[in-house]
Amino acid sequence: MNPNKELWEKGDFTQIAAFMRQSGEAVVKSIGITTPLRVLDLGCGDGTTAVPLALLGADVVGIDIAENLVDAGNKRAAAAGLKRLKFQVGDACNLEGVDDRSFDLTLSIFGAMFAPRPFDVAKEMVRVTKPGGRIVMGNWIPNDPTSFVSQLLKISSSFTPPPPEGFVSPMTWGVDANIVERFGKAGVPKERISTVKDTYYFVSPDKSPTQFIDLFERFYGPTMNAVAAAKNSGKVEELHNQLLELAKAQNKATDGSTSIPATFLRVTVLP
Ligand SMILES: C[S@@+](CC[C@H](N)C(=O)[O-])C[C@H]1O[C@@H](n2cnc3c(N)ncnc32)[C@H](O)[C@@H]1O
Repeated sequence: MNPNKELWEKGDFTQIAAFMRQSGEAVVKSIGITTPLRVLDLGCGDGTTAVPLALLGADVVGIDIAENLVDAGNKRAAAAGLKRLKFQVGDACNLEGVDDRSFDLTLSIFGAMFAPRPFDVAKEMVRVTKPGGRIVMGNWIPNDPTSFVSQLLKISSSFTPPPPEGFVSPMTWGVDANIVERFGKAGVPKERISTVKDTYYFVSPDKSPTQFIDLFERFYGPTMNAVAAAKNSGKVEELHNQLLELAKAQNKATDGSTSIPATFLRVTVLP
């Protein structure tokens, strides 16, 4: 079994995605969609950005490595009557079966960053995007105290055994020099790559930060692995307290609900 696929099929990311819909829509609006537009949403999950893209009239293919999320996405598309939105299983490292130069926009919000071979991912995103088109990525930023998920993953990995040799941290996609190097190897000059910091919000009007962290512990692969390892080492309470402290410290809601801003790096590449 591919460990990357296993990690994301392990839990149920739809439980976390439910907190991400508002910002997913905002990111899509900010891109400025004009139709006709053929879009690839890579590492699409259950469609946090793919659904709003299709609602704006784009033809959207969502590709994700996790079969359970692809199924959940197709159910959402059917429920919304979105006939020009299709989800399919695929790997960002090797988009076999996807034609060269076939998309006007390749979007990947916290998706492709989690694929294991970043140079292959950059090459594939450039290959499938039309010249004159756009690649937009959203990536969490390492060591940024305001980048909520990068902090959550830092805590989670401090309770997990070290990764296998050769493992490249997804967080390296949050560093400009790596982005320029990866897309550079794929043939894109650095003048055609730009990055800007932006803010994503995890929002729920009826769930507290405690419930939010509970969902990460039960349904988010990387945190589930940390919980399993912490159980073995007798540190499960320590892990829980650190995660909860993070969520509470970053929560801006004052009525017991959740509204956590999270800084991310927005990358635009013009192949
Ligand atoms: C943090 S989730 C983000 C999902 C979605 N973009 C969203 O904003 O809700 C990361 C997603 O990347 C997917 N993923 C991880 N590795 C992948 C790969 N190699 N190829 C395609 N998708 C991948 C996961 O299955 C998961 O759906």
